[in-house]
Amino acid sequence: MSNTLYYTPRSGTGNDSLLPLQHCIHPPFQCSLSPMSVYRRALRYFRPFLRETVLGTALMLAGIALGLLKPWPLAIMVNEILTPGNARKVTPILSHWFGPMTPPAMILLLCASIVVINFLANLLNMVTNLIFVRVGLQSLLKLRTDLYSYLQALPLKYHDARRSTDSSFRVAYDSQAIQSIYSKGSFIFSSMVTLVSTLIVMWQIDVAVTLVALAIMPLVVLAIYVFAKRIRTQSTTIQERESDVLAVAQEGLSSIRMVHAFGREDYEVAQFRTRATHSLEANMRFTGTQMKSSVIIGTLMALGTAAVYYLGSIHVLNNHLLVGSLWALSTYLVALYQPLEALTYTTWALEGAAAGAQRCFEVLDQQDDVKDAPGAKSIAGTRGELAFEHVDFGYEPSRLILQDVDLEVGSGQTVAFVGGTGAGKSTLLSLAPRFYDPNKGRVLLDGQDLRTITKKSLRQHISIVLQDTLLFSTTIRENIAYGKPEATEEEIVEAAKRAQAHDFILRMPEGYSAQVGERGGHLSVGQRQRLGIARAFLKNAPILLLDEPTSALDPTTEAAIMETIKELMHGRTTLIITHRIATVHDMGKIVVLSHGRVVEVGAGPELVARGGAYAELYHSANLG
Ligand SMILES: Nc1ncnc2c1ncn2[C@@H]1O[C@H](COP(=O)(O)OP(=O)(O)OP(=O)(O)O)[C@@H](O)[C@H]1O
Ligand SMILES: [Mg+2]
Repeated sequence: MSNTLYYTPRSGTGNDSLLPLQHCIHPPFQCSLSPMSVYRRALRYFRPFLRETVLGTALMLAGIALGLLKPWPLAIMVNEILTPGNARKVTPILSHWFGPMTPPAMILLLCASIVVINFLANLLNMVTNLIFVRVGLQSLLKLRTDLYSYLQALPLKYHDARRSTDSSFRVAYDSQAIQSIYSKGSFIFSSMVTLVSTLIVMWQIDVAVTLVALAIMPLVVLAIYVFAKRIRTQSTTIQERESDVLAVAQEGLSSIRMVHAFGREDYEVAQFRTRATHSLEANMRFTGTQMKSSVIIGTLMALGTAAVYYLGSIHVLNNHLLVGSLWALSTYLVALYQPLEALTYTTWALEGAAAGAQRCFEVLDQQDDVKDAPGAKSIAGTRGELAFEHVDFGYEPSRLILQDVDLEVGSGQTVAFVGGTGAGKSTLLSLAPRFYDPNKGRVLLDGQDLRTITKKSLRQHISIVLQDTLLFSTTIRENIAYGKPEATEEEIVEAAKRAQAHDFILRMPEGYSAQVGERGGHLSVGQRQRLGIARAFLKNAPILLLDEPTSALDPTTEAAIMETIKELMHGRTTLIITHRIATVHDMGKIVVLSHGRVVEVGAGPELVARGGAYAELYHSANLG
């Protein structure tokens, strides 16, 4: 079975979907920000759209005002035309404006006004919605882009500790919370205005009835408060469980070869089922809470409605209230309770959105602990002199992987690192491009602390070839040019020729335009390796890092690739890690690492003569 299936390049731009599952589980998300501070922070994303928001709000208020007019044409008809004995207040005004009218003509006019009022109210509603949706989507675009670019910039330490699917979930789904917060927020505002203005109008019609309608509201608000709290935690749980489902499916499918090879399909399905069941349970609990609250709140509202109808009818019997006005009151009651009910649901949605937004802000709050020092300079070129000065390093502060590493690599020199597995070789190499910073000591380039050089310019001067070349699912051409997107076709072909990749590329039906498949699945390990080397030729950086570039290959291919690698090393400062002693025995300086310490340094034959750790490795490799 191919080695590439379970190799995880720790120091490279590794895709963590290759990690076994237990590495991928991170502690559950902790709610660290209060909802208010989440909303306040979300507001920053809406600030650029202040003008649109003000316009939308003005149109919304006009729409609400029109909405309040809706019951009146019918109420006037009933009070002043259909019930002849009543005092007339509005019809004389209409006659004054439109001239004397017969009752049927007056009714026709009032009916026409219903159409006009509704049409205008709907039109305003539509425009308001369009404005609000557009602003919501644009703030989503901004948050997503911020998140993704921040994730791209965060150091490997952050990504090592998390599943990439969790980060993708935050970028793709949690970010949508910002749009929800905006649309729900504006909806809550409009509901509040509707509520208050409806109350004022009702108050004008009948104070006692309005008070009865009001009496029920504190109970409803209390219910909202109680349920909103529960909804908030439950919806966070759902998001976490969904993210788990996605992660398990993605990991199981991306390692499908290994699953088949070990016959673990049932196990993978069982894992998936467990996570999916957890998500189902969380969803059911959430739905249960929703249902319970809608029963309780619905009943409270029915209670209020019944009380209003009772008292209103008594007032009509006592001639304190006109029938048409009672009808208007009952319409307003719907307009009063509907926003209340909508407020409940929207408060829930808003609570859920706050949880999502919080997961986004949590990413944006991560410290970049491999930052460029203030005043860091970009370098235009380098002699390629690397030095490690008493370097201590550990992925966790409590466990040092490298201890007191003190090394110098001269310009154009080749240094080979050998040592047992887990000795810290890859870790040491990953300090050169500043994937991590040492806990103690310094790494220097041309005598300058790496921290005083911008990461971007530093990395422009370093090429990396790993044991497993990571390819993107695009064409061969683009993969070779990954480190130099502006490369010309000639340069790409030249690099491929020097890496001895040109011939096999031409044998493919589409040549340089051939797709390599997901993670290079359409190519053999040796072919991928040659593309990795071609990349390095094209990038033409003065410093070269090689992490076991040939150990996945058979001896014949290894010998061929080693030839191209030697050509690549020519004139560059090279740090190479390998288990194959034979390939590096005659290559300048050899550094033997053991448990994170440098135990021997020197030329191969010299170290063999010394009879120490290197000699042991040399003899156990049957080299003499
Ligand atoms: N991203 C990481 N997070 C935490 N610990 C890590 C990480 N990468 C490596 N380690 C630990 O650091 C130690 C050194 O690992 P490293 O990969 O540098 O060894 P190595 O010498 O390259 O070994 P090999 O020859 O097997 O590639 C190991 O104990 C490993 O478990
Ligand atoms: Mg290694």
